[in-house]
Amino acid sequence: MKTNLSFAHPAEVETECLAVVVLDNGSKDKPDVAVQSNDAAVVAAAAAVIASGEVTAKPAETTLLRSPEKLKAKRLLLIGGGKAESFSASDLRKLAGAVVRALKPRGIRSLAFVAPDSLNAEEAVKAIVEGAFVGNFDPDTYKSDRKDQQIDSFTVVATGDQKKLQQAHDEAVIIGESQNFTRDLVNEPSNHMTPTILAERAKKMAKEVGLKCETYGADKIKELKMGAFWGVAQGSDEPPALIVLQYEPAGAPANIKIGLVGKGITFDTGGISIKPADGMEKMKYDMAGGAAMLGAMRAIALLKPNVKVTCIVCATENMPSGKAQKPGDIQTAMSGKTIEIINTDAEGRLVLADGLTYAKELGCTHLIDAATLTGAVVVALGYANAGVFANDDKMYERFNAALSKSGEKFWRLPLGDEYLDNMRSNIADLVNAGARWGGASNAAAFLKEFAEDTPWLHLDIAGTAWMEDTKPWIAKGPSGIAVRTLIEFVRDFKG
Ligand code: BES
Ligand code: MN
Ligand code: ZN
Repeated sequence: MKTNLSFAHPAEVETECLAVVVLDNGSKDKPDVAVQSNDAAVVAAAAAVIASGEVTAKPAETTLLRSPEKLKAKRLLLIGGGKAESFSASDLRKLAGAVVRALKPRGIRSLAFVAPDSLNAEEAVKAIVEGAFVGNFDPDTYKSDRKDQQIDSFTVVATGDQKKLQQAHDEAVIIGESQNFTRDLVNEPSNHMTPTILAERAKKMAKEVGLKCETYGADKIKELKMGAFWGVAQGSDEPPALIVLQYEPAGAPANIKIGLVGKGITFDTGGISIKPADGMEKMKYDMAGGAAMLGAMRAIALLKPNVKVTCIVCATENMPSGKAQKPGDIQTAMSGKTIEIINTDAEGRLVLADGLTYAKELGCTHLIDAATLTGAVVVALGYANAGVFANDDKMYERFNAALSKSGEKFWRLPLGDEYLDNMRSNIADLVNAGARWGGASNAAAFLKEFAEDTPWLHLDIAGTAWMEDTKPWIAKGPSGIAVRTLIEFVRDFKG
């Protein structure tokens, strides 16, 4: 999708469809709908349908008018944004996605979206462009009858400081494309997304954006004594991949390096502790944490923040086989800690344990991991929020600030020694699976034993990496959760 900015009057924009936000200014019982544009011709074109009471402005409601008088656009689309008093950039992001998704099945290939005046213009342009990319993605690669319904050309109509708005637009394109890069990886089924293929995709991306990328196989994993990672990988005929990307801009502070560590389980059968058949097909998205880190690295390479970042993705299948690890086995992690394997389905924390240790070995001073780690986080937070854990309040505050820019939703969950008590073994240092209750915090407590004192965030995206339903602004399927927040986090990271 090509996007561009226009500083023309909305009425003058020649397009297949001009989209403008309508908001409800009114009291509880009576909608009082107002068009979010100062352009008199646009306001006039919408006046009759608004006066009819047909338009309520409820979120994502669409009203399409053909051949609007005095507009150069062929159509005018009114998109509802809810109550004016609470309308935010994060709502606007969704509306841009909803407009794209409403228009593409109608055969419309180009449109223009008017940035509402009530929001900061730069934030509005950024949200609209990001939202348009989110909406334009459909996971239909494998449908032979797919209609290739895509918006080809998307214009944002705005007023303000043209240079700053252009910059906001250009950055949003990078962020939107990077989120979709991640979604593409996550959408692939495991026969098309083996650890080897994931490593190749990372290499190709790194080359395109100018990042250093090394990918290693079983030999290196064993040489590094990554016994926890190898314990998972040993059961699969598909070779594992240890993917390492480095972003090291000249002039970045020497004493800071952010480490992004992703879970890259390209298929999780559960291993010998095998999962039930029902729903197992979804475990192709168990590499969404790793894919999120790769998408974030893509954007970081292009946005060029002044901080060093290293990304590690631990990619393997989790399979049952004659070579697979078994419950009761003890593995020695790279850090030297020993782990009694109680449940081979708790494999994500094993690969991440060694990923975190390796990140520290490579000099990372601040760590973030992302993983579809536990079913328990879905029980706790459902599909609406991802879980975030922090051993450092400053890291969490930074993450929270990034959330307010990205519009993504994460909720902080507890860490604490009480949870670690669930993860102690009689015969080794740790068990890999604790009591059922508090499962998301138990897993986080396990990981903290490997992050140790390094400031660290753990993102559990098991419930949010895959949309279970289509929403007006986003297709069912891979969501690309965490990518935008990671990007904002890294961009704003100073000392
Ligand atoms: N990949 C799963 C977690 C998951 C569940 C991701 C649902 C996405 C949706 C993870 O490897 C797993 O199997 N976790 C177990 C841990 C348990 C054995 C301690 C779980 O949550 O049941
Ligand atoms: Mn598992
Ligand atoms: Zn898993």
